[in-house]
Amino acid sequence: MSESDQKRRVSLHGQWSSHLAFVLAVSGSAVGLGNIWKFPYIAGVNGGGAFVLVYLVCVFAIGLPIMMSEILMGRRGRRNPVATMALLGEEEGGTRHWGIVGVIGVAAGFFILSYYSVIAGWVVAYIFEGASGAFEGADTDQVGQIFSRISGSWIVTGFWHTLFMTLTVFVVAKGVEKGLERAVRILMPALIGMLLLLLVYSMIAGDFARGLAFLFEPKFSELTGSGVLVALGHAFFTLSVGMGAVMAYGAYLPAESSIGATSVAVVIADTAIAIVAGLVIFPIVFANGLDPAAGPGLIFQSLPLAFGQLPGGSIVASVFFLLLSFAAWTSAISLMEPAVVWLVERQEGLPRYVAASVVGVLIWLLGFLTVFSTNVLSEFTFFKGTFFENIDFVTSNIVLPIGGLAIVVFAGWVMSANSTADELDPSVGIGYRLWRLSARFIAPIAVLFIFLNAVGVL
Ligand code: TRP
Repeated sequence: MSESDQKRRVSLHGQWSSHLAFVLAVSGSAVGLGNIWKFPYIAGVNGGGAFVLVYLVCVFAIGLPIMMSEILMGRRGRRNPVATMALLGEEEGGTRHWGIVGVIGVAAGFFILSYYSVIAGWVVAYIFEGASGAFEGADTDQVGQIFSRISGSWIVTGFWHTLFMTLTVFVVAKGVEKGLERAVRILMPALIGMLLLLLVYSMIAGDFARGLAFLFEPKFSELTGSGVLVALGHAFFTLSVGMGAVMAYGAYLPAESSIGATSVAVVIADTAIAIVAGLVIFPIVFANGLDPAAGPGLIFQSLPLAFGQLPGGSIVASVFFLLLSFAAWTSAISLMEPAVVWLVERQEGLPRYVAASVVGVLIWLLGFLTVFSTNVLSEFTFFKGTFFENIDFVTSNIVLPIGGLAIVVFAGWVMSANSTADELDPSVGIGYRLWRLSARFIAPIAVLFIFLNAVGVL
């Protein structure tokens, strides 16, 4: 037994039943509203092509190495992210203050989930809109009215937000290992299948050439410093990195699983799904005279138009939004997990369901700032806009990149090469060297550069 194996501590909690279970959990976390709702909406607002290019570069050059860092730290610490950061900080850098990074992550998860749950609530509402036949033959105006009816009422939006949070708390209370695995294994392929079906529709009935050009023809004149920051922020958001969610999952990872191969697979799948979603939505947008920069309502206004024209579209719509709800659900669970394990491991004897309920109620309450943002408080704007827009901007584009920066600097500079090589398995030599190059130089410098570049526009 090598020295490092002796160091490898006994986990405070269970392990994934298999390597596949871990891959599914991380993919379940990564694939969600970020891919299908947020990516098309922010690509549209930021002019398409050039933004997409920057996003892709950020995902692979910055997001991927950070994901690997989170998993390796999680597995080495085998605790909740706060305790893991403190413990590894002490072992590798002589100070427990690194725990602060975990605390910031827990807070980021609270704020992100507070609005994520509201958007997910709309998705759940659309399962029923679809089933009721409301999209059948609907035109652009009618589809817009459906969206306003839901988003314009705080009672309706608040109701679905409440339902979604309740379902999330329910799973987290039982422990993430159970249930999640089966849900992701069956439902994720189904969601991908539906997206491909819609892609065929978009190719036939949409303005596919224009959609393609919008997403892939980089017009650098359209790209602003804040657009670059949004692309960076979204790279973190879509991969679920920068706040310890993936670190929390890494804590349950069996010692023999390959971190590099897993991360590459998850990142490629996550990116492919976002691109397909874009390729579905923009041709529909252009063929129907919708505004690509319509904002957060984009998928809720474009997709129903497609469903309304498909044979059996009501059922297809209902199933699609059901699957998207599940994808959002598995992401939401990962946003809560760090806070809940932290509480459980801190307060000895505190049952998981109590921790999950307390965290859930706080996030649910905070969510009303977003619930009100599209109705009673829609005129109340400051800094980046409504409460929703500010919470989203600050968490995705400021807090996650700072959290990610701290994590990658820790893995690249504070941890010894021995420790990281031990976790990452340097047998794949070039992979390890690339990771270390990015963790030490590329990722930190890029994040700092993008921040400085955007300061002028903040
Ligand atoms: N990645 C998820 C999505 O794209 C959202 C998400 C889950 C997340 N966990 C996260 C974002 C942790 C940031 C941090 O929908």
